[in-house]
Amino acid sequence: MIRPHGSDSLMPLLVEEPARLKALQEEAVNLPSMMLSSAAAANAVMLGAGYFTPLKGFMGKADALNVAEHMHTDSGLFWPVPVLNLTTEGEAPAPGSRLALRDPNVDGNPVIAIQDVEAVEVLSDDEVGFIAQHVYRTNDETHPGISTFASLGRVVVSGPIEVLNLSYFETDFPATFRTAVEIRADIEKRGWRRVVAFQTRNPMHRAHEELCKMALEAVDADGILIHMLLGKLKPGDIPADVRDAAIRKMVELYFPPNSVMITGYGFDMLYAGPREAVLHALFRQNAGCTHLIVGRDHAGVGDFYGAFDAQTIFDESVPEGALAIEIFRADHTAYSKKLNKVVMMRDAPDHQKEDFVLLSGTRVREMLGAGEDLPVEFARPEVARILMDHYAQETATTT
Ligand code: ADX
Repeated sequence: MIRPHGSDSLMPLLVEEPARLKALQEEAVNLPSMMLSSAAAANAVMLGAGYFTPLKGFMGKADALNVAEHMHTDSGLFWPVPVLNLTTEGEAPAPGSRLALRDPNVDGNPVIAIQDVEAVEVLSDDEVGFIAQHVYRTNDETHPGISTFASLGRVVVSGPIEVLNLSYFETDFPATFRTAVEIRADIEKRGWRRVVAFQTRNPMHRAHEELCKMALEAVDADGILIHMLLGKLKPGDIPADVRDAAIRKMVELYFPPNSVMITGYGFDMLYAGPREAVLHALFRQNAGCTHLIVGRDHAGVGDFYGAFDAQTIFDESVPEGALAIEIFRADHTAYSKKLNKVVMMRDAPDHQKEDFVLLSGTRVREMLGAGEDLPVEFARPEVARILMDHYAQETATTT
């Protein structure tokens, strides 16, 4: 099976040995504690679940700046996005202490991890801008990732962690949330050798479905890992339980049996486009996948990134051999009225724009909000029905 990133074996930081877990839970009661941001709690979940192998905890300032600028930690590990526990001055703990990290996303704010605080450093305004510019390619606060980053505080609390639980993901999404350890085990059990991962934060429409099928065939894979984001999104994005139901229906009706694993991971969306695509590739490698689909405007938002920037970054900025996973590059995909099927635009060079059924995300939301049917060329009717029911309920509860 494909090797994990930077390590011979996965390094999940979740403590599962019962005696050790009990000891840590007891210790946590008497430790000074700190409330995490949702972003830091999501990092703890990814570290706990093995997706962020081989990191041992939160990065310090030097690593954050190096990762932002060069996609390498101080010690030379390839890594595309700083993994930070940021807080405000008033909340800063003492270096050298052990600290209980509380989960902002679970009632009662239970301790999610214990951190050995190695350093407590403050980012200057310039450093915050530098990190944002390199990771997000912008400092514009209308970018949802930047507005979140700007709200997190300037104090970098670094050091290794031990993770006590995986937040709300196991309880809220028992059928879908999976750790990298579990996905590797499942791939092994199925005997799959080539596995294509599909990242998504949306319900899957016909274009998404066909992308998966095209990739499956093109790379001669044994199966597809649909790996949906289950963490926080920007307002207006479709909730995870609705996306999950829509995806399950689509797979049930339109994919061959045993060709798909429907799974999810617990991370908040960064909307960092190209850099997030590289992080996506890295943690799918950790989950045992050999390929990741990267299509149009992968992990993008608004007009902040060029449509294929998330593909070119792999050619321009990811050093040869830094990752073992390969990228399946997809062109803009849509239903062709001429060919009566979903195609990649590069495969239909004689087409004009109007030969395709194209709907923007905004238009789709408008149609669903108005109770209009989505065209069958765009969405499978059974999937559209689940989305329409969701929007009807939303409208009923807000009026
Ligand atoms: S993302 O933020 O998770 O990337 P989304 O769920 O919409 O958003 O996309 C999942 C994957 O499908 C990404 O790789 C994206 O580039 C790709 N994709 C979505 N729609 C299209 C399309 N019409 N044509 C080509 N690729 C697409």
